[in-house]
Amino acid sequence: MRPTDAVGALDLDRIQGTILRERPLPYFGSYLLYEVGDAAEGRAMLRRLLPHVTTAAGWEHPAQDAWLNVVLTHPGLARIGLPREILDGFPRELREPMRTRKEFLGDIGESDPANWDFPEHGSFDIGVLLMAPDETAFAEKLAIGHGAQEDLPSVRRVSRLDIRTPDNLREHFGYADGISRPYIEGQGGTPRRGQSLAKPGEFILGYVNELGRTATGPGPEALWRNGTYLSIRKLHQKVAEFRRFLTARSEDEYGAELLAAKMAGRWRSGCPLALSPEKDVTVEPERLNDFAYYDDDPRGLRTPVASHIRRVNPRDALKDTIVDVRLHQLLRRGAAYGPMLPEGVLEDDGVDRGVVLAFANADPARQFEFVQSQWVNDGDFISAGADQDPLAGNHVTDADFSYAAKPVRRRLRGLPAFVVTKGGEHVFLPGVNGLEYLADGHW
Ligand code: HEM
Repeated sequence: MRPTDAVGALDLDRIQGTILRERPLPYFGSYLLYEVGDAAEGRAMLRRLLPHVTTAAGWEHPAQDAWLNVVLTHPGLARIGLPREILDGFPRELREPMRTRKEFLGDIGESDPANWDFPEHGSFDIGVLLMAPDETAFAEKLAIGHGAQEDLPSVRRVSRLDIRTPDNLREHFGYADGISRPYIEGQGGTPRRGQSLAKPGEFILGYVNELGRTATGPGPEALWRNGTYLSIRKLHQKVAEFRRFLTARSEDEYGAELLAAKMAGRWRSGCPLALSPEKDVTVEPERLNDFAYYDDDPRGLRTPVASHIRRVNPRDALKDTIVDVRLHQLLRRGAAYGPMLPEGVLEDDGVDRGVVLAFANADPARQFEFVQSQWVNDGDFISAGADQDPLAGNHVTDADFSYAAKPVRRRLRGLPAFVVTKGGEHVFLPGVNGLEYLADGHW
């Protein structure tokens, strides 16, 4: 292995692909979750999966768009026999089930973990994550998942959640997604215009982070190097409610589209309000992130200060405050589940649809948990009291949304909840070396 402070030299062939690979579009994927009864059988499953794990090497190559990655929960690491002294060294967010921090993360009201359904029985040990550009490639990866479990009676699949691109190739509320993500030093290629730059240790253990320190994990380096933590959330989306809200609070179709754009910070096409605040225009892909807020839009006249994208990534907007945005970056992997509600339908059909978000972060406390609790479900950091994210907030309390408008500021009161949490867990996504270490069991 290379020295741990080697920025600019990522072990791409030892890092699981989901961290760096672009998601195919359309996509066909699945979350397969397993419970393990016997430690030796759990390790046998890892050994079978290992040759099929897709790494980040060659990630820019479209032909390799299908991938298979493996994660373990903290109970899963215990189940396969990892010694207690190593288990105790994992971050608290991993050691304690996410549901135990429900108040902090805003999983209250409808989002209460008592109502979660992913996985169906509350927990899992090993997860196999599949992503493919077509049905055939998906079926091949699925067969590997099935095969890994064969003749291992104590390994039981407890959940399967398929992810599929909605027919309009957007997410369920109708927005283009997967647009903005940080560029990690050493990942290869060149950053796009306006893309935020991040030290690899923010997202991958074994490398230098934004604090100038090497991000590490518990136990031997072989276990944690090239690994990370994924903060997984299953979020149900109330699409009919969202559509009715846009219509009810707008005078015409343009007004509804503008409101959707103000809530997100981008038109539903993906065009940023920062580049075109009054009408939706086609923007070349390389310009989709070419904007900042501090000099060009300090008061949020274009991109509302309380809009989704400006909250979850304030870019340079908080430069004069004590908040260091570089310490709260997230690498998002989002994919939709459930069939699309046909265009124009305003009544709920009772079908479960939404998004599974998987945020890669080396320090879940100061990354995912911070963003979710402080920026999504609270407005204090932008002097907006307890007002929440208009799209993703739980809207149990103080769900108002204000934005600059002519002739006067517009304040929408009492937004209904558009998103309900249906499951969540922090998991360990080891590097290939970590998977080998775990599969061997020579602690
Ligand atoms: C169902 C719930 C959600 C929906 C519909 C949603 C939708 C969107 C959309 C449309 C974008 C802009 C397009 C893009 O950059 O890909 C976006 C960006 C983003 N979202 Fe969400 N989101 C949701 C939940 C969340 C949550 C809970 C978080 C974090 C805790 C989050 C973090 C981000 C980040 C970091 C960005 C990139 C912002 C930027 O760099 O400009 N999202 N989301």
